[in-house]
Amino acid sequence: MFAAFASSIDAEDPLRGLELGEQPEPSVPEGWTTVRVKAASLNHHDIWSLRGIGLRADQLPQILGCDAAGIDEDGEEVVVHAVISDPDWRGDETFDPRRSLLSERHPGTFAERVAVPRRNLVRKPAALSFEQAACLPTAWLTAYRMLFTRARIAPGATILVQGAAGGVATALIVLASAAGVRVWCTSRGERKRAAALELGADQTFAPGSRLPERVDAVMETVGAATWSHSIKSLKPGGTLIISGATSGANPPAELTRVFFLQLSVIGSTMGTLDELERLLTFCAEKDVRPVIDSCLPLAQAGDGFAAMLAGDLVGKIVFTL
Ligand SMILES: NC(=O)c1ccc[n+]([C@@H]2O[C@H](COP(=O)([O-])OP(=O)(O)OC[C@H]3O[C@@H](n4cnc5c(N)ncnc54)[C@H](OP(=O)(O)O)[C@@H]3O)[C@@H](O)[C@H]2O)c1
Repeated sequence: MFAAFASSIDAEDPLRGLELGEQPEPSVPEGWTTVRVKAASLNHHDIWSLRGIGLRADQLPQILGCDAAGIDEDGEEVVVHAVISDPDWRGDETFDPRRSLLSERHPGTFAERVAVPRRNLVRKPAALSFEQAACLPTAWLTAYRMLFTRARIAPGATILVQGAAGGVATALIVLASAAGVRVWCTSRGERKRAAALELGADQTFAPGSRLPERVDAVMETVGAATWSHSIKSLKPGGTLIISGATSGANPPAELTRVFFLQLSVIGSTMGTLDELERLLTFCAEKDVRPVIDSCLPLAQAGDGFAAMLAGDLVGKIVFTL
């Protein structure tokens, strides 16, 4: 079957290892099933995999892609939950120490077919297209959990989203705004700041700007480049939720501020199957739609990877089959 896969790893030049071509059909263990992929969305995770983070050379070739919407063996339209937990694990899948994401230990979604545990399938609401639904299982689910599970953000609160144009950042802006939260965000580009206002942000700022007032919570995926600003932007008792560190993982910790202002720093990773179901309902019922930068045939996946690497996006890139 046709697929986009990692054939080699290069930490400096990740696109060198991206290949398009034939890969074997996925094997289907007991309790698993196959989904015919109609749409799959690109995440920064796929770039990390090509850089060798979360994927080792001895696991190659590996089909990339975490997110998919498609048609299951019974002809149902489904969305795939990308977190693969141990078959014996019960409760919040994101706490399973043996969990993996599709494309780490098992072939990913950038292919005509993907094998997944039967319990990882969620019915796709008819109101969402395959392209829209394919944006939800990683970036949008992560944003949903950051806001509503980890930060327990309340309507009327003010949050700062660091970065505005990425998959998780656009999801944070749209979801928080739809939930009645005042959303401020930073972005490196004027065009991206204008796009954030269109998506529902109340104010936008250049990175590192002094804000009109301190915020209740900061949503971090950028890491080193924005960390100090995030800590300095919080009210006493405020909360920083972090789910990524795109620009680097070892910024100055700002420990004095953390203890003196009694700040909470909370990690967040992906989301549960229940959270994915609630996110799908929220989008379908409240007319919330993922922000799609562009849809490309999977055969042009290289263009999508290059745009993400260049940071030249507003929203998600979706590959169609
Ligand atoms: N823990 C989890 O489960 C989880 C799930 C999803 C994603 N993540 C992580 O979250 C991060 C974002 O993922 P994504 O898929 O949304 O990526 P993406 O689409 O490539 O977005 C990158 C984001 O980083 C922002 N950014 C700001 N300053 C940056 C800088 N100096 N260098 C690079 N980026 C900068 C960009 O904002 P502007 O362009 O507007 O400035 C943009 O919002 C990645 O590190 C990813 O691995 C983690």
